[in-house]
Amino acid sequence: MKETKISIIGAGNVGASLGQRLIEKDFADVVMVDIVEGLPQGKALDILESGPVIGFTHCISGSNNYADTAGSDVVVITSGVARKPSMTREDLLKINTDIVSNVVKEVIKYSPSCILIVVANPVDAMTWVAYKTSGFPRNRVLGLSGALDGARLATFIALETNTPVTNVSCYVLGEHGTNMVVFPRLAKVNDKPITEILPKETIDTLVQRAINGGAEIVGLLKTSSAFYAPSAAVARMVEAIIKDTQEVLPCASVLSGEYNLQDVVIGVPVKLGKAGIIEVIDLKLTQDEINALSASAEAVRKQIISIPAI
Ligand code: 2OP
Repeated sequence: MKETKISIIGAGNVGASLGQRLIEKDFADVVMVDIVEGLPQGKALDILESGPVIGFTHCISGSNNYADTAGSDVVVITSGVARKPSMTREDLLKINTDIVSNVVKEVIKYSPSCILIVVANPVDAMTWVAYKTSGFPRNRVLGLSGALDGARLATFIALETNTPVTNVSCYVLGEHGTNMVVFPRLAKVNDKPITEILPKETIDTLVQRAINGGAEIVGLLKTSSAFYAPSAAVARMVEAIIKDTQEVLPCASVLSGEYNLQDVVIGVPVKLGKAGIIEVIDLKLTQDEINALSASAEAVRKQIISIPAI
């Protein structure tokens, strides 16, 4: 029987920590590809050599050749320029459009039936680029957004309420950027809406910190953007797909009428399984919440319109 195979394009901080997380979950072989000679090979070999210590039996390998990704079930695109302090994700639009479209053209040559997960920023627009370049059905193209942003908000809520993060649930939807949308009434601590336990000012502060979460890390690291939480969030998405768990996670998805939005990508709750996006979950939102989501989609649409013809 064919072994499950996951390929990661880009062996930088996000790609390599994702490779480590996935191989340690031990449900698929992993291939890391990068343009830098030796980088994916060295990092993959180093991770592989941790196998006897950690106990995983699947194989992780590195390559500079896309042919080695052939037959992948899931391909994660982490390659792309990361932002520096004072840059916005949007500043990366042009350069990362070129990178992502070229990567997708190579990937689909060898894995025409794979599911694509995009991490490169601005991720909503880059997910659109991957969708248009691949010609894949929209269920097989998604991006990392709310699974990461929601983890950040849950962390901040847990710290504020002195609660284990496992007792906190929340949704961050919309653009993976300054226009992301948080619905405080849907955020819960021990199943209680945070609007019933925290004052509005505190909630606003926590929400703003989550919106600024990526920039906060970039500001601290100076030469890199975040990679531990992003790689953990992507690993969760990959696991839900490979294990067909039907888990609902907020992911950047191509909308085709859901939330009255068409031909745009934003983070919405989706059910994940073997086919990728099985279903876009239609939350019952108030008119204000629908307006906020539409405004967020409009910000992404402006980015998509400015993308040179693919
Ligand atoms: C972040 O928010 C890299 O966009 C990613 O950290």
